Amino acid sequence: MTVPTATASDPTWWRQAAVYQIYPRSFADANGDGIGDLRGVTSRVPYLSALGVDAVWLSPFYPSALADGGYDVDDPRGVDPRIGTLEDFDAMVTALHGAGIRVVVDIVPNHSSDRHAWFRAALAAGPGSPERERYIFRDGLGENGELPPADWTSAFGGPAWTRVEDGQWYLHTFATEQPDYNWAHPEVREDFLTTLRFWADRGVDGFRVDVANSLAKDLPAVLPSAAELSAMPKDGTHPLWDRDEVHEIYAEWRRVFDEYDPPRTAVAEAWVDSPERRARYASPEGLGQAFNFDLLVADPEAGAFRRIITANLEQSALSGSSSTWVLSNHDVVRHATRYGLPPLEGRREKQGTAWLAEGGPEEGIDRERGLRLARAATLVELALPGSAYLFQGEELGLHEVAEIPDADRQDPAFFRTTPEDRGFDGVGRDGCRVPLPWTREGSSFGFGAGGAHLPQPAWFGGSSVQAEDGVPGSTLELYREALRLRRELQGAEELTWAEGIDGGDVLAFERPGGWLTVANLGAEGTPLPAGELLLASGPLEAAADGSAVLPAGTTAWIRR
Ligand code: NOJ
Ligand code: CA
Repeated sequence: MTVPTATASDPTWWRQAAVYQIYPRSFADANGDGIGDLRGVTSRVPYLSALGVDAVWLSPFYPSALADGGYDVDDPRGVDPRIGTLEDFDAMVTALHGAGIRVVVDIVPNHSSDRHAWFRAALAAGPGSPERERYIFRDGLGENGELPPADWTSAFGGPAWTRVEDGQWYLHTFATEQPDYNWAHPEVREDFLTTLRFWADRGVDGFRVDVANSLAKDLPAVLPSAAELSAMPKDGTHPLWDRDEVHEIYAEWRRVFDEYDPPRTAVAEAWVDSPERRARYASPEGLGQAFNFDLLVADPEAGAFRRIITANLEQSALSGSSSTWVLSNHDVVRHATRYGLPPLEGRREKQGTAWLAEGGPEEGIDRERGLRLARAATLVELALPGSAYLFQGEELGLHEVAEIPDADRQDPAFFRTTPEDRGFDGVGRDGCRVPLPWTREGSSFGFGAGGAHLPQPAWFGGSSVQAEDGVPGSTLELYREALRLRRELQGAEELTWAEGIDGGDVLAFERPGGWLTVANLGAEGTPLPAGELLLASGPLEAAADGSAVLPAGTTAWIRR
């Protein structure tokens, strides 16, 4: 078994890494104030090490008013005092590296927060000032400029233009508190290079790049209407999204990454229109890797998985990157819950995010089926060539917390919309961001000595680390064993469909070295192929003649 050491200079470590996403405010709270912190992460390094992940990615921990869970950044080169200090950060990196775990941090380049020094200066300096040039300010329409420059809607609902006191308007693709930077401005470009070096110098191994497809913008003097905008193709020429020249920015970043040994890595969050356009972000001359959300938005259905896997392996071969696979993150309903919903067809879909069922969060969720399929899908994900990005708590089989009182909600997507037109699953994204349960009982189920900043339901204790640790068949033990075997079995980034087994509702593929994955995503049992059974996502059954059967909704790893 080869265990990577984070100090070793391996420039390819990221290609097939299992990366665990930490949402810092909700992972572990060391000082008991109800908010997860960096010392909490450090205290859980043994847990992460035993889990067997190769890297962690931390969502933003920078100073922030939390208008968007920290994606509204006041100062990209600081630590929020509620989360810790730079010294805490350094201690955390040292502890993670000591355990052979690499560190990826989130970079938020599309926007700052409205409390960022530059935005405050822009407001103070007034219209026409050089300070305003770092953001996207416009005069309004109408006789007195009282109408927004365009009728655009923000990604969280509500208007995308907000008026400031002196009458001008600024663009925010997301919440009001997240003014978009003007990336045509050389100081914006330079400042991000400084930020990348700042964290790379502190030992950070890689970066996750937020909304990587939105930095470059080209806004004409007369802005198109929202309807016109949404009719425009996203083929590199759209005024806001996925413009071709965004890659000039990432070519500059690449030169910074390559100043380091090993080169720093990056993964783009880019919800673009096709695997072909995604491959541009994954280019070795650019960010090097891009999230592939295709599995995340698909039903756990063999045909869909087969098509997605084939298309993405082809694309990664073309881009020179490795594939990435994601089933859950902090923006979507957890996959254990998603898979317990009625099939996606007929449900509302938007920008690729999977929504909870219409008509009330708890209605229509089959949680038992959801978890069974989630475990099966995870064993598929972890057997695929490329990197797997896991979201904290999925290793516990944690479900979405659907019932959060309105008064406790934090997600701007919840507040900026009406129930009828609500994005991000109809109730917002708080349900996957509830602080993790570490113990069966006790204050905030072991999250910390105090409370939890989002309410934890009573059933959380049953899905806690303590409840699952050492329990055969628990989801935690399944992930631990899968990650251990993955390290042992992971070879070349190759996959062949298993002839004679793969087909219909049964997905079956082989990796070099005889590592066979068989996922039964249909409704009936199927014979278990011959070979040494390494791991299964659920109990097997026996046929009348005593032969082993792979039940519906179950995946097995076999060595043959
Ligand atoms: C994508 C992030 O994943 C999400 O959480 C955030 O709200 C938006 N980008 C805006 O930064
Ligand atoms: Ca705390």
